[in-house]
Amino acid sequence: MMKLIHLTDPHIVPEHETLFGLKPYQRLRLAIDSINREHGDADLVVITGDLTHKGQPEAYQLLKQELSNLLPPLALLPGNHDDNGYLCEYFPELQTDSEDFIQRRLTLPAGELILLDTTIPGTHIGHYGEQKRKWLEAELKASHGRDVYLFAHHTPFDMGLKPLDNLRIPDVDAAPFISLLRQHSNIKHYFFGHLHRPLSGSFHGIPFSTLRGTAHQVWLDFTSQTEIPGSHEQAAFVLSLSTRTMSLFIPMTLWTTLRNSASMMAFQQPNSDESHHSTAHKAETENKKGTRLGAFSIQSGDELVIVVQACIKQRCQIL
Ligand SMILES: [Fe+2]
Repeated sequence: MMKLIHLTDPHIVPEHETLFGLKPYQRLRLAIDSINREHGDADLVVITGDLTHKGQPEAYQLLKQELSNLLPPLALLPGNHDDNGYLCEYFPELQTDSEDFIQRRLTLPAGELILLDTTIPGTHIGHYGEQKRKWLEAELKASHGRDVYLFAHHTPFDMGLKPLDNLRIPDVDAAPFISLLRQHSNIKHYFFGHLHRPLSGSFHGIPFSTLRGTAHQVWLDFTSQTEIPGSHEQAAFVLSLSTRTMSLFIPMTLWTTLRNSASMMAFQQPNSDESHHSTAHKAETENKKGTRLGAFSIQSGDELVIVVQACIKQRCQIL
């Protein structure tokens, strides 16, 4: 059995700074302490980008210092908030031969892990251009039909949150990227970051998931068109257990005040009559402390189903 830990979006800032009222390195430390205590035997921890918030060298120094305490092996990916130059300076193992992107394939006993760089300097918008796709095509071929797990920061599809959908990999790159993925039935999962929300589903038959960042979260708001609303919901990581026949994805939320609420989730299936349109359905429940919890299911066309967990009444204006 392969035991993976997926962490994302630590958004580290220098130690003396705060980010939206939080100390990101302290929240990352919570996750590292929990992983070491409960899952020090994991095969790998993957962090899918936005390692720092502003790409400052002091932030990478602090990130390196915190990650040096992590027991399992580690793999890093950049996000749109990172500076790949400084990132490679502090983590020289990420440097590649000649390409100016950070992509790698890691071979584990249970399968091939392919880490994709969906960033491009100077913009927060995702990118997966021809050069990167050629690299991925070669790596998929070299995987020889073994189970493949993809990791990236951005997605090539909408997730229902407009301000973040605006930053996904644009259609001009997304279409050939998805076309390439569809040619490989051995792709078992697509892990990504960027959203700062727990969310899972499938596209073109490929299961995907993302999770809370270890820093701030993005508020679940289907109406906001441009502003990205934030929240101080708790940090989290996901424990993934995979065998040849089964995969489990277990959210490990680092609760401080809502310890009993992690498993309270309910959702409605979308009405099949509406399956050709983007639709959202909501279900809510309330835990013992009066905090409303909910989950939303979205169907967009025939190819994509998303379930989004939400924790309601915790909203705060931070972005
Ligand atoms: Fe982020």
